[in-house]
Amino acid sequence: MRKPFIAGNWKMNKTVSEAVELVAKLKEIVKDERGEIVVIPPFTALFEVKKIISGSRIELGAQNLYWKEKGAFTGEISPLMLKDIGCKYVIVGHSERRQHFNETDEIVNLKIKAALENSLIPIFCIGEKLEQRDKGETLNVIERQFEGGLSGIDESKARKIVIAYEPVWAIGTGRTATPEQAQEVHSFIRTKLRKKYGNEIANCAIILYGGSVKPENAHSLIKQKDIDGVLVGGASLEAESFGKIIEEGWRAFREK
Ligand code: 13P
Repeated sequence: MRKPFIAGNWKMNKTVSEAVELVAKLKEIVKDERGEIVVIPPFTALFEVKKIISGSRIELGAQNLYWKEKGAFTGEISPLMLKDIGCKYVIVGHSERRQHFNETDEIVNLKIKAALENSLIPIFCIGEKLEQRDKGETLNVIERQFEGGLSGIDESKARKIVIAYEPVWAIGTGRTATPEQAQEVHSFIRTKLRKKYGNEIANCAIILYGGSVKPENAHSLIKQKDIDGVLVGGASLEAESFGKIIEEGWRAFREK
């Protein structure tokens, strides 16, 4: 049985004190909520945020990782370090990393494997650019990223992965995919999972939508059959709007 999954990717925002303030507020707001609630602060705030959310309903995620466990890789953060600090999730393959830091499908694949080997759950992001959508290439792009990222990953590992469909043209632009556009891609992804890993994994897999999710559009998105939750950027930076999205997610799930 899938449950609503709402994650907030804070990206490169919030000092430690701002992060602490935000998550303390959020903890009060989500006291009685069910489902999976995840905050994904910058690395510098992970430790302090973890202290505040311990024993609460909120889980911790990181925004990136390197695929080696330790060594001479100046500036990088390893899966062991994330595990040690109390992360349950890690975002892999976000379009901002693909775009600004040249992350290829091969690198994304290495990172997914490293996360899984260290018992971190990857939130594996895929999504097309506007020009690709306009040329009718959306599903080809999704297929290529899906196959590239999951190459060599067997069923026992695949069941732990969360997938996030984030159309690049909808990220930070205020332009959300319509529920129908998102559902079409989500359904395609679930079918790909079914073909690759079988019914059970496809039926249980959590597939999130991301891209300008707000309290106003969360319900209609999450109500779609194959949308299990959302990965929120901008609207997760305020406790009130993120709390409202969590509420809407739960309401949409009850109505499915
Ligand atoms: P926005 O919600 O700000 O569009 O960001 C989405 C995103 O990239 C989440 O990972």
